[in-house]
Amino acid sequence: MRVLVTGGAGYIGATAVDILIAQGYEVSVFDDCSTGHADNVASGVTFVQGSLLNRSEIAEALKGCDAVMHFAGKSLVGESVEKPELYWSVNVGGTRNLLDEMRAAKISKLIFSSSAATYGEPEVLPILETASNRPTNAYGATKLAVDAMITDEARGHGLSAASLRYFNVAGAHKSTRGWLRERHDPETHLIPNVLRSSTSKTVKIFGTDWPTKDGTCIRDYVHVVDLIDAHIKALNSLGSAGHEIFNLGSGGGYSVREVIAAATQATGSQIPFIDSPRRAGDPAVLIADISKAKRILGWQPTRNLEVMVSDTLASFE
Ligand code: UFG
Repeated sequence: MRVLVTGGAGYIGATAVDILIAQGYEVSVFDDCSTGHADNVASGVTFVQGSLLNRSEIAEALKGCDAVMHFAGKSLVGESVEKPELYWSVNVGGTRNLLDEMRAAKISKLIFSSSAATYGEPEVLPILETASNRPTNAYGATKLAVDAMITDEARGHGLSAASLRYFNVAGAHKSTRGWLRERHDPETHLIPNVLRSSTSKTVKIFGTDWPTKDGTCIRDYVHVVDLIDAHIKALNSLGSAGHEIFNLGSGGGYSVREVIAAATQATGSQIPFIDSPRRAGDPAVLIADISKAKRILGWQPTRNLEVMVSDTLASFE
């Protein structure tokens, strides 16, 4: 089976490419390299550098493919608030183009990178896939809109699809070519920022007065390798037309202070940090209910926070 990995030059997509190849899949990559890195794409992989806004480039990339893992898209919450039109254009318009070209090419299997940002501030924890969707930013709104579009494509045109709603993806993957890791600029994510914290560039704790056990936000971190394992299981679970949504997290949560403690343990030295005001738009606690993915996909994440931190640290060296 040949899988088109859109966003295959990015952190999560490149990890998917490497693991798919190791498991015997044929892979094509489609990426505009706006945030991805061409050097993430393994030599020998069919690579079309192109945009989701260009339908002929998508059609070119889909040639010979049997399924699509769609990671490509804009994924910064803050940027989405400042430039909503960019998010609606690339994430929603771009995915519309992809679905149309998939239909034209008679490709009916799709795994989509959705997000916990579709839920917004949760009413009930842990969060089930049936929770209400009230995204608090354009990023979450566009992921939710694409999920709805995929549901309709499945109903109307026989697409067989799964949307995977990521919680906090972390860690790194040791490929045959070295570590594949987060290479965002600027980096906004907690674990890399904590591991890079120094007295001259000290990581900020965004809020110490949240209604949690230690006053800092709690998030559900999932290792990128466990995440890709779920993608491959989801791909293999696709049958006749339909659309299923699965949460992907670990089912548990860690506070920002607990992440700093894990990093202190991994590095063997005290991580400098500054207690700072809350960051706009952050919910206090996000924890996934992952029982649906466990039950239907037979998936079980196996790498805990210590592994996510130590792999990220190793990937910096
Ligand atoms: N945080 C800090 N200091 C930092 C960075 C983060 O204290 O320098 C805190 C945040 O306030 C938050 C937690 O650490 O409480 C995690 O923050 P991240 O930025 O690493 O991740 P988010 O939870 O904000 O966002 C992630 C994904 C988004 C997705 C969202 C789903 O990165 O793409 O989960 O809710 F939308």
